Amino acid sequence: MLVVVTGASTGFGYHISKLLVEHGHKVIGVARREDKLAELKNELKDQFYPLVIDMTELDSIATKLESLPEDFKIDKIDALVNNAGLALGLASADKASLDDWYRMIDTNIKGLVTITHVLLPYFVKNNKGTIINMGSVAGNYPYPGANVYGGTKAFVEQFSLNLRADLAGYNIRVTNIEPGLCGGTEFSLVRFHGDQNKADNVYDGVKALSPEDIANTVDWILALPEHVNVNRIELMPVMQSFNGFNVVKK
Ligand SMILES: NC(=O)c1ccc[n+]([C@@H]2O[C@H](COP(=O)([O-])OP(=O)(O)OC[C@H]3O[C@@H](n4cnc5c(N)ncnc54)[C@H](OP(=O)(O)O)[C@@H]3O)[C@@H](O)[C@H]2O)c1
Repeated sequence: MLVVVTGASTGFGYHISKLLVEHGHKVIGVARREDKLAELKNELKDQFYPLVIDMTELDSIATKLESLPEDFKIDKIDALVNNAGLALGLASADKASLDDWYRMIDTNIKGLVTITHVLLPYFVKNNKGTIINMGSVAGNYPYPGANVYGGTKAFVEQFSLNLRADLAGYNIRVTNIEPGLCGGTEFSLVRFHGDQNKADNVYDGVKALSPEDIANTVDWILALPEHVNVNRIELMPVMQSFNGFNVVKK
């Protein structure tokens, strides 16, 4: 398969790209950091095409995908892994930064729907394609400080399900992967604006999910028979679970 993986420069996207190439697929890896994509190109060679796109620069998404070289041409793309995304801050809504909110909406929602909108007509024309969106447990369960991040991931979940509603009858699969706590990525470092101590503290004493667990899930979904659609799949490490409702007493 020829697979577009957004957010390929690090974290989940890096491991997804690596595993898919190991399993014989070709990957177009999208991210902003050219140097990181170049390192991946060095590692994965001809099966990998680095594509620098800032997913918040919406106009450039179609232009860059439509200018891919022959071996990676847009009409040959079989799957899209919409993984690029971020959480910014963990402050309560009244203290959160509006800029952070807008950046999460621009990346996690507007970037994701834009690249989907660019590729969908090709999938429909070929009557074939798989879209795997990276949601989060934050889209299913509220927690303090998740405010807009959780809102963007709830959007991603509902968008995924609604895509299937529109695509019923086509061989186009849509899955929302909803991971819980996962270490080994830059997620918390980005969330805490580069504060390594705060980021490390999130995973201290916890065996979290690994990015390899997520890559294996993507690989499994892609390998399923064409008629099977996994609507949504939620994963957590055994050390993470649910809490009761928060009742504040006088
Ligand atoms: N880690 C977790 O615990 C966890 C749990 C649930 C869901 N998720 C979701 O999983 C996805 C990947 O997270 P991760 O943990 O792998 O985080 P990560 O290590 O920070 O990776 C995020 C990736 O997204 C890319 N990205 C961010 N903004 C971008 C933009 N404007 N344009 C293009 N690429 C952009 C980054 O590349 P550049 O910086 O090079 O652009 C990077 O490759 C996210 O959608 C996240 O919300 C993570």
